[in-house]
Amino acid sequence: MSIETEINTIAIIGGTGKEGKGLAYRWVKAGYKVIIGSRNMEKAQIAVAELAEKLTDQEQKLLSGDENGAAVRQSQLAVLTVPYQFHKDILSSLKNDLAGKYLIDVTVPLVPPKVSTVQVPEEGSAALQAQMLLGEETTVISAFQNISFGLLLSDEKIECDVLVCGKNVEAREIGQKMVRATGLTAWDAGPLENSIVAEGFTSVLIRINKQAGTKNAGIQITNVPRD
Ligand SMILES: NC(=O)c1ccc[n+]([C@@H]2O[C@H](COP(=O)([O-])OP(=O)(O)OC[C@H]3O[C@@H](n4cnc5c(N)ncnc54)[C@H](OP(=O)(O)O)[C@@H]3O)[C@@H](O)[C@H]2O)c1
Repeated sequence: MSIETEINTIAIIGGTGKEGKGLAYRWVKAGYKVIIGSRNMEKAQIAVAELAEKLTDQEQKLLSGDENGAAVRQSQLAVLTVPYQFHKDILSSLKNDLAGKYLIDVTVPLVPPKVSTVQVPEEGSAALQAQMLLGEETTVISAFQNISFGLLLSDEKIECDVLVCGKNVEAREIGQKMVRATGLTAWDAGPLENSIVAEGFTSVLIRINKQAGTKNAGIQITNVPRD
């Protein structure tokens, strides 16, 4: 199955949650159509109504809600924002819907209660786990693991960078384009094997936040020309 490269509509699986709503907000502001996905249609509509309060009338027309599978089917690009403990189950249930699509996996493989200790899935990373489970018909991209939802929902310029991984240059370019649309700086961080660096770094940021009494610690790449 060929994959479409023109992204107009983004489906956010588990978009009723914190990170999903934050990304939806940023992409609607950038002019993309966004569908908030949920296991429950009513919950999706509530999330849409919450976000609508922060949007203009014109922007509200870009936002809708649906069940996860239906949302994915209407999109060219899906985004997974569900806690790691449900990662395999939700991907298995949406495998057919995700065939022929890009999937940005935002998952950090946190294993409570030790969330400030790096956990490595047996596949090597959550993104690799997703790619292995979904097979070649879906192109998995990994991004946004180090960006807190509070920053995404703010209207401030975010002084954090995003590492983007994917199996080939084309996948990483799509990922970087979607990152830039949120107002963030994107870096091509290489193949999905490298995703564990971004995924693991979140545990370090959680630790730093605890020590500093903050919520939004992030990373920036230095001493390289920025875009
Ligand atoms: N929060 C952050 O700042 C942040 C930052 C970077 C990365 N992340 C990553 O983003 C992902 C989402 O984090 P979050 O904080 O947004 O999580 P969350 O708010 O706790 O949950 C997100 C959504 O997951 C869905 N969900 C819950 N249980 C489920 C199940 N059994 N099966 C399928 N879906 C289920 C729910 O959607 P429905 O009930 O509507 O289906 C829920 O709204 C995680 O992997 C996290 O590591 C989060």
